[in-house]
Amino acid sequence: MNRLIASLVVALATTTAAIAQEYPTKPITMLVPFAAGGPTDTVARLTAEAMSKTLGQNILVENLPGAGGTIAAGRAAESAPDGYTILVHHIGMSTAPTLYRQLRFDPVTAFAPIGLVTEAPMTIVARPDFEASTLAELIQTIKADSEAITYANAGIGAASHLCGMLFMSTVGAQMTTVPYKGNGPIMTDLMGSQIDMTCDQATNTAGALREKQIKGYAVTAAERQAAIPELPTTAEAGLPNFELSVWHGVYAPAGTPDAVLAKLTASLQAAVEDEAMGKRLNDIATLPATKDQATPAALKERLSSEIARWKPLIEAAGQFAD
Ligand code: MLT
Repeated sequence: MNRLIASLVVALATTTAAIAQEYPTKPITMLVPFAAGGPTDTVARLTAEAMSKTLGQNILVENLPGAGGTIAAGRAAESAPDGYTILVHHIGMSTAPTLYRQLRFDPVTAFAPIGLVTEAPMTIVARPDFEASTLAELIQTIKADSEAITYANAGIGAASHLCGMLFMSTVGAQMTTVPYKGNGPIMTDLMGSQIDMTCDQATNTAGALREKQIKGYAVTAAERQAAIPELPTTAEAGLPNFELSVWHGVYAPAGTPDAVLAKLTASLQAAVEDEAMGKRLNDIATLPATKDQATPAALKERLSSEIARWKPLIEAAGQFAD
């Protein structure tokens, strides 16, 4: 290497290090892969608010729904790796590589994981005037004429899609699926009785269940949830082994400088311990990650193990997207 090139390399490395030290000097965009008003949006807005306290900059939430979350994830993967675009995504990040035959990014290599942020069970819910009062009655009604019942989901790879896929194969009946851009709009239509039922994260349903704006049949967890204590577990309601928990994580594009990632991780760790965020999550049956889970290593390990766990289940269901 001649002297000029060597000094240019040193100058570039020094500038990059200095930029990372000063980070962040302007607002950060947090991409959300589903519509506003849904569970991922709620997790993202609470996280953005808490993280902006320690980063000293606003985090602007941008909803980019479509294709089960893969549009926003694709955009994040292609963004400049400078820490000014980050992504909040859920379990769908681990199902996308099996579900989507033409996925334009690899969730493992295209991102620098920052950490896990929340985990929540799902709830099997219906419009407020749906005739069935228990899960057994709901299943009976579905089996009697499954095509007449509309099931809303937020696209292939959404948690509502995965839960619906497992539910329909467990009860042995295919309902009429209605795709939406997120569970925010689904909840509006469910409360207005425009659709019959869905399976949605407790994050989005706990308040509506307490207010009796929708009907609840079961929570997909081993234990009842303190925020919605009247809702039986799936096992109690007659569906043993039907458990599903939705985790959310925060990602930056691969190639983001280590010093920037360290600042984002420290800020995420402070967020999951933030009292206001914890209280709000507690009210909606959603668990914040622990400090140890809000780390790149924990998210990396969760993502890989979930990719392996979902692959055979999705292949057995045989439902893929292009
Ligand atoms: C949303 O925010 O709309 C959800 O996370 C969608 C889903 O995965 O069902």
